[in-house]
Amino acid sequence: MPNLREFSERETEEYYDAEDALYRSFWDSAGSLHWGVFDAPDDGATDVRAGFMAACLRLNDVMLANAGIDPAAQVLDLGCGNGNTATWLCRTTGASVTGVDLSGVRIANAIESLSAVPELAAKLHFEKASATDLPFADGTFTHVWSQATIYHIPDKVKTLQEAYRVLRPGGTMVFDDLIKPRPDISDEARTFVYDRLLFDTDFSFYSYMEALRETGFRVLEARDLSAHLARSYSCLSQMAAGADDDARAERFAALSDAYLKMVAAVRNDELGWAQYLCVK
Ligand SMILES: C[S@@+](CC[C@H](N)C(=O)[O-])C[C@H]1O[C@@H](n2cnc3c(N)ncnc32)[C@H](O)[C@@H]1O
Repeated sequence: MPNLREFSERETEEYYDAEDALYRSFWDSAGSLHWGVFDAPDDGATDVRAGFMAACLRLNDVMLANAGIDPAAQVLDLGCGNGNTATWLCRTTGASVTGVDLSGVRIANAIESLSAVPELAAKLHFEKASATDLPFADGTFTHVWSQATIYHIPDKVKTLQEAYRVLRPGGTMVFDDLIKPRPDISDEARTFVYDRLLFDTDFSFYSYMEALRETGFRVLEARDLSAHLARSYSCLSQMAAGADDDARAERFAALSDAYLKMVAAVRNDELGWAQYLCVK
């Protein structure tokens, strides 16, 4: 097994602090930053952005479907970014939701956005913290939710253990994450996928489930969403290419190219995307 390349939490934090404005300019102006689950083969064929944004919302619905989040639930959103999904979860389910993220910039944005939703203020909280060292007592939450985050964290086992620790017995963890279907990857995938996204992982679709079981979880749902990841990056390549910003034209052109390399990496089994639902 090749050695994994490790990026420090400091590098990840600086990256996400610095790049919020860039991603808002072509991904989602409201600040969410995850991938989408497409419904039909021609989803978004006529309007790429609308199709992609609908697919991103569909990921929320897919994850929520069997999670059992109701108004009595206490949910932790690990890696909540700008707080978009945490706010959606709170509004949609009536649950109490706490979002944590490593990026101080994103947490500040999330806290600022609370003023626009005073009706949710009692049930929605944000706090800067790392998923590897959660500032919560054992058994605080009924649910841990996470989107597009754990791949960044070098110590994924510690992250799963922390999630397990803060869940009550019988609590549910529902999340999506990037996976590496095979350990040997090309230099191109290393440069344009793994190094560019500041991550590495030795979890495949199946070894991830093993790690969850070793942590103590019972895995109830596992979905390989890799085809949707390729589709997401194909949309994002077009969205970045069409970004209307002369000052950053070169950056957008480079991103658009890199996103096509993400599509190729998924097709070569060098990158994948999975979603799991498991119970403590
Ligand atoms: C791709 S973004 C996804 C954000 C959000 N979940 C969403 O769907 O919009 C990844 C997020 O993970 C956060 N992150 C990375 N490492 C983390 C860690 N160790 N603890 C908490 N958050 C982390 C980043 O700061 C970033 O906001």
